[in-house]
Amino acid sequence: MTEKRSLPRVLVTRKLPAAVEERLGRDYAPILNPDDCLYSADDMIRAAAGCAAVVACHTEKFTADVLARLPDSVKLIANFSVGVDHVDLSAARERGITVTNTPDVLSDATAEIAMLLILGAARRAAEGEALVRTRKWRDWSPTFMVGTQVTGKRLGIIGMGRIGLVVAERGRGFDMEIHYHNRHRLDAEGEKGALYHDSVEGLLPNCDFLSINCPNTPETVGLLNAGLIELLPPQAIVVNTARGTVIDDEALIGALKSGRIRAAGLDVFNNEPDIHPGYRGLANTFLLPHIGSATIETRDAMGFRALDNMDAFFEGREPGDRVA
Ligand code: DGY
Repeated sequence: MTEKRSLPRVLVTRKLPAAVEERLGRDYAPILNPDDCLYSADDMIRAAAGCAAVVACHTEKFTADVLARLPDSVKLIANFSVGVDHVDLSAARERGITVTNTPDVLSDATAEIAMLLILGAARRAAEGEALVRTRKWRDWSPTFMVGTQVTGKRLGIIGMGRIGLVVAERGRGFDMEIHYHNRHRLDAEGEKGALYHDSVEGLLPNCDFLSINCPNTPETVGLLNAGLIELLPPQAIVVNTARGTVIDDEALIGALKSGRIRAAGLDVFNNEPDIHPGYRGLANTFLLPHIGSATIETRDAMGFRALDNMDAFFEGREPGDRVA
């Protein structure tokens, strides 16, 4: 008689797509979160008792303190995210906890949102939509709701990783001239004619549109500050689908108010969802609630990728997306 192996107990911090939870239930003993409540750090640590892994999102913060207090049974944090700035990776390494993420599968969806922000900010989509919804739209006129054209403009990208590369490709679809700054220059095949700048300072004067696609690291926190905003061409447009931390909110809001920056399209913010209130009152902002990866296809793929990493870990193989 074959003995039924006992399935690893796994804490799943957020409600996941149905197909992902179905696979979790088949292969693991998951503690699900059907009401999708946010765990406090203390509650998460308590709930992880006896668990071998945690499937987590960027909404859970794994600081050194939280990692130190996780039960010894937890050996893996399989993130349902590409960003891992919510995990102190060196503390996880020291604690002997493996950490994985879900790259690649969200690049297309996030680049779609970057293009939506570019178009929405340039063509004043938020203002126009509000006029229609509130019955304040009066008539058509040659000078009504005039924005700036996207086609043929210069698109600068900070962070030419997987997502930045897709944003560049979508920008080419609008005949945009692509400029970029990245820690490492791409080879000619990767660049596809994009113009490399070896510093952010060198990139900014070439950006009619600036798309932020770099991760949150100590080097990028507050990167787009008042001094660097001054290097952008007058009336440039800034979009961010990466992390809010890259932007100095006071500096950007000041530049949006003065008209130095024409508009901003933002899907990510400092201190989400309690964002800097200054953004809300500005007509020249196009604001979304961190939905870069929010498509059915991508959220399923993120979940399956997290589970592929978890399967590899528990089968004694190296997880494909190990980051610590
Ligand atoms: C990611 O995957 O990093 C998204 O921003 C959602 O967390």
